[in-house]
Amino acid sequence: MNDTSPDLILQTAAGFMMSKHLFAANELGLFEKLADQPLTLDELAKDLSIPSRTARITADAMVALGFLEKQDDRYRNSSVSQTFLSGKTPADLRPFLRFWNHISYPQWLHLEEALRTNRAVRGDVDLDPDQQRIFSEGVAAIQAGPAHALPEKYDFSRHRKVLDLGGGVGEYLMPILDRYPQLEGTLFELPSVTEVAKDALAANPVGSRINIVAGDLFEDAIPEDHDALILANVVHYFDYARNLELLRRIRERVLAGARVLLVDFWTNPQHTEPLFAALMAGEFLTSVGGDVFSEEEAKGWFRETGWEYVQTIPLEGPISLVVGKAI
Ligand SMILES: C[S@@+](CC[C@H](N)C(=O)[O-])C[C@H]1O[C@@H](n2cnc3c(N)ncnc32)[C@H](O)[C@@H]1O
Repeated sequence: MNDTSPDLILQTAAGFMMSKHLFAANELGLFEKLADQPLTLDELAKDLSIPSRTARITADAMVALGFLEKQDDRYRNSSVSQTFLSGKTPADLRPFLRFWNHISYPQWLHLEEALRTNRAVRGDVDLDPDQQRIFSEGVAAIQAGPAHALPEKYDFSRHRKVLDLGGGVGEYLMPILDRYPQLEGTLFELPSVTEVAKDALAANPVGSRINIVAGDLFEDAIPEDHDALILANVVHYFDYARNLELLRRIRERVLAGARVLLVDFWTNPQHTEPLFAALMAGEFLTSVGGDVFSEEEAKGWFRETGWEYVQTIPLEGPISLVVGKAI
């Protein structure tokens, strides 16, 4: 007799409910309200300005998922929500949940269409200024871990000037320059993002050592005179052929010996592991027509565009660094 259980189907199908419950609790400010003390249901409802019945629905779902604990008649944050979602620590993932709730979640409604047409349904390039801020601050929040790991795990002391291409709001450059006082940095980004980046860099002491250049990687001149180029979470915007063009374009702007640092969700050759990367291929496809790539594919770009593979360094979670050297 076949004893296969349907559990995998049910667990996976319920994934969207878990996500949306978490996003809604974050938007309501549930974890912030519980940051300082446990609250009863009525206190919580009053603080959230919602009815008791719906406060119970969101709070109990969060208990079931492990984001809250309920003791007697009081709710409290669990350790994970107190650390990352209460707004009380520097490790703040609230902007990341806002990004996925406001931008990614609506885009995923169009996954089938993107799969059928092999195209993005609505590109990140169409974001209005408010959405752009939510997007860029959300990416910066979720990349904070690998961004802080990079200067710990890769030795920048051989370098003089670092150019971060598609560098967001400077989330990778800031920890690098903080750790290496001899370095200067350049942030190259689309004009809509440089507007957000100016605020983030102005608020950081190393911001004054970072020059901001607005431009498009494929349309505008890539700044010269840098000996380390970062492409963090950028190649997944493009297909294989477009990345060949990108690697070729940037190779023309550096001298032999310069390094290119490709930070991304590198997969196994079958693109099935890590799980998070295999899922993120859907995010990149629906949002910008992009994809995930294996380390072998990165080595293929290097071979064809004047770079030599040097090493791979795991950073944090599913994010790792593939290093190339200009030959
Ligand atoms: C996923 S974000 C990564 C940001 C940052 N590098 C990080 O890892 O946290 C990708 C960035 O690439 C930028 N980008 C995409 N296409 C670009 C292009 N053609 N020219 C310049 N920047 C581009 C986007 O504006 C976006 O900020």
